[in-house]
Amino acid sequence: MTRILGISGSLRAGSFNTALLRSAQSLGGPGVQLDAATLHGIPLYDGDAEQRDGLPDAVVELKDRIVASDGVMLCTPEHNNGIPGVFKNAIDWLSRPAEDIPRVFGDRPFAVIGASPGGFGTILAQSAWLPVLRTLRVRYWSGGRLQVSRAHQLIGADGEVSDEATRKQLEVFMQGFAQFARPMAK
Ligand code: FNR
Repeated sequence: MTRILGISGSLRAGSFNTALLRSAQSLGGPGVQLDAATLHGIPLYDGDAEQRDGLPDAVVELKDRIVASDGVMLCTPEHNNGIPGVFKNAIDWLSRPAEDIPRVFGDRPFAVIGASPGGFGTILAQSAWLPVLRTLRVRYWSGGRLQVSRAHQLIGADGEVSDEATRKQLEVFMQGFAQFARPMAK
């Protein structure tokens, strides 16, 4: 069994990125389990609060879920041509304390996908993730790309990807990444 943890970088109930992640859950193929995580409950990073109280429970819980996975798939929205603040904020918490980075991130397979109603499908946000993931020393999967543009036309009101071509792309991406993350392949 290959266990992938997908993290949606949007808090919105009607998020296209959460919908993309939800649809991906049935497309990983046999032997692949994709669990979905959100960023709800993660406060703004505050170095004083960290020193005083340690890590918030929501951060510890997400760290544990990452550590229990064979790979992580980030489903990123794009804000102002970059990474949304809430998503970067969560990753910053997850990278604390620095001594814990190798356990949580180090050498772990990571992939990035994203959806946007605009015409470029989060291409700039996905590029902006690269220096962050390099800094955390993850094993980034560059074997596939999924930049879903015009997401409002491809994702139905039920929160599922309704467009067949996009579902197929998602399936190919998921299965490629799952193969990369498969424990035996490490
Ligand atoms: C956006 N949006 C956006 N879209 C895009 O493709 N490129 C961009 O640079 C931006 N910038 C941007 C800034 C801010 C502050 C907001 C709130 C939105 C639109 C964005 O893609 C859209 O709101 C998506 O629906 C967000 O993803 P979720 O919440 O649907 O997953």
